[in-house]
Amino acid sequence: MTGGAGFIGSNLLLYLVPKYPGYLFINVDCLTYAGNLANLKPIEDYPNYTFEKINICNLLAMQDCFARYDVNSVIHLAAESHVDRSITGPAEFIQTNVIGTFTLLELARQRAAQTGDFRFHHVSTDEVYGSLSASGFFTESSPYRPNSPYSASKASSDHLVRTYHNTYGLDVVTTNCSNNYGPYQFPEKLIPLMIRNATAGLPLPVYGDGKHVRDWLYVEDHCRALDLVFHSGSSGQTYNIGGHNEIENVKIVRKICRIMDEMLGGEPRERLITFVTDRPGHDRRYAIDASHIQEELGWKPSFTFEEGLRRTVKWYLDNEDWMENCITGQYLQYYEKMYSNR
Ligand code: NAD
Ligand code: DAU
Repeated sequence: MTGGAGFIGSNLLLYLVPKYPGYLFINVDCLTYAGNLANLKPIEDYPNYTFEKINICNLLAMQDCFARYDVNSVIHLAAESHVDRSITGPAEFIQTNVIGTFTLLELARQRAAQTGDFRFHHVSTDEVYGSLSASGFFTESSPYRPNSPYSASKASSDHLVRTYHNTYGLDVVTTNCSNNYGPYQFPEKLIPLMIRNATAGLPLPVYGDGKHVRDWLYVEDHCRALDLVFHSGSSGQTYNIGGHNEIENVKIVRKICRIMDEMLGGEPRERLITFVTDRPGHDRRYAIDASHIQEELGWKPSFTFEEGLRRTVKWYLDNEDWMENCITGQYLQYYEKMYSNR
């Protein structure tokens, strides 16, 4: 697995490693600001888990890793994942998301030629489809219309993956998922950022009019979907994954405030909500039609948003140390650059 020390990767490894004792999981991650090995403490001593600190763009190091472990499949999550960072600094997104994916595909192609058996599962996003108006859903045949450097880099990687199937016959599956939330998410993303700011009594910065809509999915439901697609998805297919759970951003922030008021008491936190300058190129609405994965593989989300959000808030409140460790000088610099004068 690549990117196993990030948010979704950590949740996925915590789910898969105990479940499949007969597999060897190699977590390849170069540990950017978003990677955190502390997330993986519960499984670090499992005999079927090991960690390799490698940048996926490093062809020779990755080639050596594939050979040493006789790798026969990849679940590819390593990426630069934050849209706002892609707007201020797109180069790293092109490097990791496009060149890194290309590097892995080349190695997968070589291994498949040697062994005849290699599955490449590419983990991608609904943002490749662009923005919806008030109605409609993204399906697997929606046209690609990315609007940010992040989504364009993910779209490019999706196209490369499809190419390696159609041109070289590589066994690939791609999943395009909507917004995840849950434990271990870095506090640059909407939900953990709001929880952190509300805890610290800081303003809760809502972009634009706050009426942008995302389709939220609890990360554990995404992990179950990835497990199913990796094991049973049809080669060359794409599966959209979403929660059927569309909510306006400002409503989410209000819900977080209410849950925190209930759990912690004190002055109503909604008073901290502050509308700030919008994100450039901000997609208005995402909504996923997940009927393909539901009909073919029997997957559907198991958490309601209310349940998932409560669990998430509770996890962050119970894991203050985890959050504090994220608030480094580098984070504060990022925050200042992104939010002061906004
Ligand atoms: P994240 O930013 O939390 O974690 C990314 C991980 O990749 C980190 O551990 C980081 O150290 C690692 N990484 C980055 N560049 C690397 C490189 N060059 N070499 C090796 N490791 C590298 O991201 P996430 O939210 O866990 O997302 C994981 C994947 O899922 C991404 O591909 C993302 O596009 C996709 N995705 C995310 C969401 C979401 O809501 N978070 C939704 C749909 C799809
Ligand atoms: O849709 C899937 C995508 O979801 C993933 O591919 C990305 O990796 C992931 O980062 C996420 O992208 P978003 O841009 O939707 O997530 P983010 O948490 O950054 O923002 C969610 C919404 O909240 C978005 O409309 C912007 C808004 N927002 C975000 C932040 C950080 C705010 O209003 N204020 C904020 O401070």
